[in-house]
Amino acid sequence: MKIILLGPPGAGKGTQAKSISVKYCIPHISTGDIFRKNISEKTPLGVKAKNYIDAGLLVPDELTIDLVKDRLSKEDCKNGYLLDGFPRTVKQAEALDEFLNGRQESIDTALLIEVPRELILERMTGRRVCLACGASYHIKFNPPKNEGKCDSCGGELIQRKDDNKETVLDRLTVYDKQTQPLVKYYKSKNKLSIVDGALAIDKVFENVCSILGEQ
Ligand code: AP5
Ligand code: MG
Ligand code: ZN
Repeated sequence: MKIILLGPPGAGKGTQAKSISVKYCIPHISTGDIFRKNISEKTPLGVKAKNYIDAGLLVPDELTIDLVKDRLSKEDCKNGYLLDGFPRTVKQAEALDEFLNGRQESIDTALLIEVPRELILERMTGRRVCLACGASYHIKFNPPKNEGKCDSCGGELIQRKDDNKETVLDRLTVYDKQTQPLVKYYKSKNKLSIVDGALAIDKVFENVCSILGEQ
């Protein structure tokens, strides 16, 4: 199963991805997590990506596309994968299609998690993420069992640098301009499914599973 998760910052892509990846036994590939790991390890990619991410801008396509192609070529992607945060521009979507066509493969579903704007700021400013495994929590909507510690791996929970109000607003503008056109792109290919992301986390997951089907 090859799935793309679409949706604005704070829609719940990362939150749903963790559960989908476990239920359907497919790797969760988040370009945001990959960039953040590279930033924390100060790799050459991390150094290049940092200023874009901190400013709420997209990392250039030429850095992002090859990174994903390499990742999708790994052994654990043989039976499918879940892409979270990629593609994010029409150019990335076309590059992905070209890559998959070359392997006689295609995406099964691009799943759009829709959330009204007024919910997003509260979600983002209350979010805490695990430095080690990328899991997302929320101080009110999804608190960890032990404050400051990740339920799944015990890692330290931190607040993302781009989760302040100003940067979130910039990220939303970037989403509208550069990523929103992908909704039309996948719709025209009959690949688009939509789920209501304003519901509680468990309810969203239930609806996601009914779209993806039982395995
Ligand atoms: P990325 O890490 O992908 O960030 P994003 O798309 O802005 O999305 P978020 O991770 O902020 O939101 P989410 O939808 O995952 O929400 P979450 O589940 O955590 O990208 C970061 C940056 O990296 C980009 O700005 C860009 O610079 C760069 N980048 C990444 N990919 C790129 C690409 N392909 N090309 C170029 N640049 C790229 O949930 C949010 C909060 O809400 C959490 O606190 C959660 O607990 C809570 N929550 C979730 N669901 C619910 C619910 N149903 N009810 C109540 N609360 C909920
Ligand atoms: Mg995320
Ligand atoms: Zn963790």
